[in-house]
Amino acid sequence: QSILFVTSEIADYIKAGGLGEVSAALPRALRHHYDVRILIPGYRQVLSQIGDVEEIARLPASFGIPACGLGRGTTQDGLTVYVLLCPELYDRDGSPYVDSFGVDWSDNDVRFARLGLAAADIASGAGDPLWRADLLHLNDWPSGLASAYLAWRGQHIPTILTIHNLAYQGLFDRNRLSYLGIPDNAFQINGVEFYGKLSFLKAGIFYSSHITTVSSTYAREITRPEFGCGLDGLLRTCADEGRLDGIINGIDESWDPSTDPYLVSPFSAENCRGKRANANNVRENFGLALSTGPLFAVVSRLVHQKGVDLAISAAETIVSQGGQIAVIGQGEPRFEAELQSLAQRHPGSVGVKIGYDEGDARRMYAGSDFLLMPSRFEPCGLSQMYAQRFGSLPIAHKTGGLADTIEDGVNGFLFGEPSLNRFMDAIRRGLDTFRSSSRLTTMRRAAMNRPHGWDRSASRYQEVYDRARQAAAAA
Ligand code: ADP
Ligand code: GLC
Repeated sequence: QSILFVTSEIADYIKAGGLGEVSAALPRALRHHYDVRILIPGYRQVLSQIGDVEEIARLPASFGIPACGLGRGTTQDGLTVYVLLCPELYDRDGSPYVDSFGVDWSDNDVRFARLGLAAADIASGAGDPLWRADLLHLNDWPSGLASAYLAWRGQHIPTILTIHNLAYQGLFDRNRLSYLGIPDNAFQINGVEFYGKLSFLKAGIFYSSHITTVSSTYAREITRPEFGCGLDGLLRTCADEGRLDGIINGIDESWDPSTDPYLVSPFSAENCRGKRANANNVRENFGLALSTGPLFAVVSRLVHQKGVDLAISAAETIVSQGGQIAVIGQGEPRFEAELQSLAQRHPGSVGVKIGYDEGDARRMYAGSDFLLMPSRFEPCGLSQMYAQRFGSLPIAHKTGGLADTIEDGVNGFLFGEPSLNRFMDAIRRGLDTFRSSSRLTTMRRAAMNRPHGWDRSASRYQEVYDRARQAAAAA
């Protein structure tokens, strides 16, 4: 059975967040059972790293979507990657979605319609002359149009759409419809229309055989107006029809504190002594004073979703209780500025790096005692699982994947409402635990030993694939 996994990022070459990590890990967990191949735009960062890419086909232009080459390459461990060769759309510096000023690429609609159309072509046998996909696994809005293009052609190929974050929807002006080859009659509530705009995500939800999202709690939350970002009605219908499931993400084997080459000193659940050296390294690196007090970490995109403002407000109290805070992140300029001024007000106690650095992040998970994650919503969240694995107890809002991966008082701390008071209560419970070394050790062990692999989730995806296949066969 052949599966095309369609994604706009993959950690091997380019990533903006958790989607890139999942796109690297999940196909690898599934490849023992299926012929899984990846489809990704040929961004500059992909082509410069992937090695040999052979052009195996030309995909024709369609309406305003330009023609492009279909390249085939392989990852170092032999996973087949189809790459869209279209320099005019993808050969640029910057992230998959925004330029170096953080502004959306103005042609994102064409860039990702090109991706969706190519996926539909490969599935219907018009892509690789030697291979076709009998199931498409789409991810987030950038690949959402794929299932719509198939539906408009009357092709019943099973399609799964995984929602990693409902807040990003790919909304464009309605005057782009004909340019993108979208039939006028699809611009309606039962179609691609969303409050007068064209929505790639809604297209994916409406036309795919099955929808998954990345935790059970988030799967329930998004059927309610508070979390549904305007799509809760449609998602309720999907849920009622048995077409919506939550499947939690796993983390890959590189997250192992006994072998991680980025760490200053290895450690394990049985012997945590090495954590101290990592903590001191973080202190040194972030300009913090030497201390034996609790060390809190924030590793995050600096956006409203992540509750950065709550972490900033909690900082004064943490510091007044003898705690220290190390922050790495980048995102909205106002949060970057507020964090920098916080660090200036508390030299030696708060250290902030604006930027993205995987080594720093890993050493922070390894060195810290607590990870602050007051996300307002969190589809799954990987950071809290990395922290647990490295013996840092997450203090997190009880929402989405945080609610599903953290057991309050056992392997982390949860608070019920995203308010400063509730967050501070949880932080206080963390500080109390820190003062009791036996409780701290017990919780740390529980966190580090929590099952976190991909096996169980991979078999749930297999069940969903089977169901989608049956549904498509019946259609
Ligand atoms: P999201 O995808 O919403 O950003 P996740 O928790 O799923 O949230 O994934 C975030 C990933 O990005 C984690 O692996 C985290 O370690 C990493 N990360 C976030 N910010 C930074 C940063 N500034 N430097 C290094 N890694 C970061
Ligand atoms: C999104 C979500 C995050 C999730 C990740 C991978 O970025 O914000 O919660 O872990 O996707 O599924």
